Amino acid sequence: MDWDDAYREQGPFTGPPPWNIGEPQPELAALHRAGKFRSDVLDAGCGHAELSLALAADGYTVVGIDLSPTAIAAATSAAQERGLTNASFVQADITDFTGYDDRFNTVIDSTLFHSLPVDGRDGYLRSVHRAAALGAGFYILVFAKGAFPAELETKPHEVDADELRDAVSKYWEIDEIRPAFIHAKPVEIPDAPFEMPPFETDEKGRVKMPAFLLTAHKAG
Ligand SMILES: C[S@@+](CC[C@H](N)C(=O)[O-])C[C@H]1O[C@@H](n2cnc3c(N)ncnc32)[C@H](O)[C@@H]1O
Repeated sequence: MDWDDAYREQGPFTGPPPWNIGEPQPELAALHRAGKFRSDVLDAGCGHAELSLALAADGYTVVGIDLSPTAIAAATSAAQERGLTNASFVQADITDFTGYDDRFNTVIDSTLFHSLPVDGRDGYLRSVHRAAALGAGFYILVFAKGAFPAELETKPHEVDADELRDAVSKYWEIDEIRPAFIHAKPVEIPDAPFEMPPFETDEKGRVKMPAFLLTAHKAG
């Protein structure tokens, strides 16, 4: 997957990528409304950063990190347009970034985990743990196994709960892993020899795909 191509609309999707829903993922927006997040916040794999922008609008200091320069440019200009001086965006590889030791009280992963190659997970979890302050909260919204047809050759690295727990618990204290939904725009795959699973849609016509929401913290 070339992430920058996706944001520049050079493929593999027709038009903007399906995860760009123009607002934060509803599961994470609900946590925000419930007051679960504490500033400063790291938005890991922020993309167009609707989550960071919503948090910044509510007074949080937010740093978004993403591999894609196009996504970082879009997030930066959206923050400027909205007058949000407390949101900044950095192009970096989340699996080995440095420079923020012990800084963040909240780390949020809005559909990044399944976007990383499996052998990138450990570096990612170690790097965000280093960037987190003692007691920091960590939230991961990730596709569950079965979100995509088995026949699909290129797809996100969906997880089961044990796999997720095993990976994350090497660095973080896990508080909860529960079923959740990722909302995405429907994707047409012309002439595909399989059907996309018949998931429900939300009130805006987006598909509600099976996911896990993991909550953890940095022991200290
Ligand atoms: C499915 S998108 C989710 C974007 C955003 N968090 C959201 O909820 O809309 C996954 C994001 O992870 C980013 N990404 C993938 N690998 C990365 C890496 N190694 N370091 C930083 N960002 C990465 C991609 O560029 C992409 O923006």
